[in-house]
Amino acid sequence: MEVDKNWISNNVSSITISAIKEMAIRSAKIENVASLAWGLPSFRTPEHIRYAIEQRLESDPDIGKYALPDGLPELREAVAKKHLAATGISVDPDLNVMITCGNMQGLNSLFHAIIDPGDEIVVTDPGFASHFQQIRLCGGKPVFWTLDETRDWQLDVDSLPNLIGERTKAIVLVSPSNPTGKIFTEEELRCVGKIALDHDILILLDDPYCHFTYENQDRYFNLSSVPELTNHIAYLFTFSKTHAMSGWRLGYMIVPERIKREVLKVHDATIICTPRISQVAGLVALTEEPVHLRTFEDILARRRSLICQRLDAVPHIFQYIKPEGAYYVFPKFTTDQVDSVNFSIKLLETAKVAVTPGSAFGPSGEQHVRMAYCVSEETIDKAFDRIGALFPG
Ligand SMILES: Cc1ncc(COP(=O)(O)O)c(C=O)c1O
Repeated sequence: MEVDKNWISNNVSSITISAIKEMAIRSAKIENVASLAWGLPSFRTPEHIRYAIEQRLESDPDIGKYALPDGLPELREAVAKKHLAATGISVDPDLNVMITCGNMQGLNSLFHAIIDPGDEIVVTDPGFASHFQQIRLCGGKPVFWTLDETRDWQLDVDSLPNLIGERTKAIVLVSPSNPTGKIFTEEELRCVGKIALDHDILILLDDPYCHFTYENQDRYFNLSSVPELTNHIAYLFTFSKTHAMSGWRLGYMIVPERIKREVLKVHDATIICTPRISQVAGLVALTEEPVHLRTFEDILARRRSLICQRLDAVPHIFQYIKPEGAYYVFPKFTTDQVDSVNFSIKLLETAKVAVTPGSAFGPSGEQHVRMAYCVSEETIDKAFDRIGALFPG
């Protein structure tokens, strides 16, 4: 008798490929698209990093070999030093530092380590789409913490305790935020920290955009600098954005000792280690002066001004809140009654402009689109010229 076997696990069949990649795949099939869909910076990996790797490829006989599962000791030491300088918190390279293949992989290991089926993770809504998928992939449930656009997407600290129950394991935070560009205030973040402590849950701080804060640098607050939270916080940094190293797949986590032990098992059972060549590049990135950062931020600041100018000029199509950091803006479209997926498809198919539908970032993202302005000014202009032609004022 033939057995109709379902080969695909519920955890996998319940998720979809993210709308960000979906739009990237769709737009790759159309010629001459002006894409604001993917948060992939246009920059090259800085020259000093490329040059150092070129040398090491020839001179280091171990460059092509596995590394320890938690990363090269010298890189973990450099990470601990950087963390101390940035936060005043001293961490042990062996007990607390874990080198990852970027924040997605780091979070994936963390979620595997902490989620049992049915467990809940609080995520901001809007929040980063891939977090939701990763949680579901581990059999967990994302619990949406709704942020209010009319209050500038700030954290609604008062509503947080109501979302925390028996099954809550962690809260995920990203500031500056993807997709809104919001930088949460120190006061808000400290309140979240206190709530996490009171309920004995973890905070997962996914921090790709800490260096892209423009004139709002003073508003950026790293919650992992609070000494009382060191046992309740996992801090994740990635080289993808600040060092234009997204393809190297490199990041690190600072985690409590008890978490590192568990994460290490997941990491070992899945990826074995982060590629050594990327770790060597990371060591260069951390030990040499990051001279490129100023240039990256200046260029992104110009692109931010440009995209805001272009949005200001089309109030009949979009309303938006000026992003404070990262390189995303999350306008609400006012022109069309279709949902954000159909609006994005219409833009792609009729105007050859790729954006990401806001619904991918949570229920509050509906009627919005995410635009990534890490692309050239020419691309931003082209996208807005086309949108303007599609919806004349
Ligand atoms: C909030 C957030 N987390 C993680 C990532 C992915 O980072 P990585 O390249 O380090 O995996 C992104 C990339 O867009 C992001 O915006």
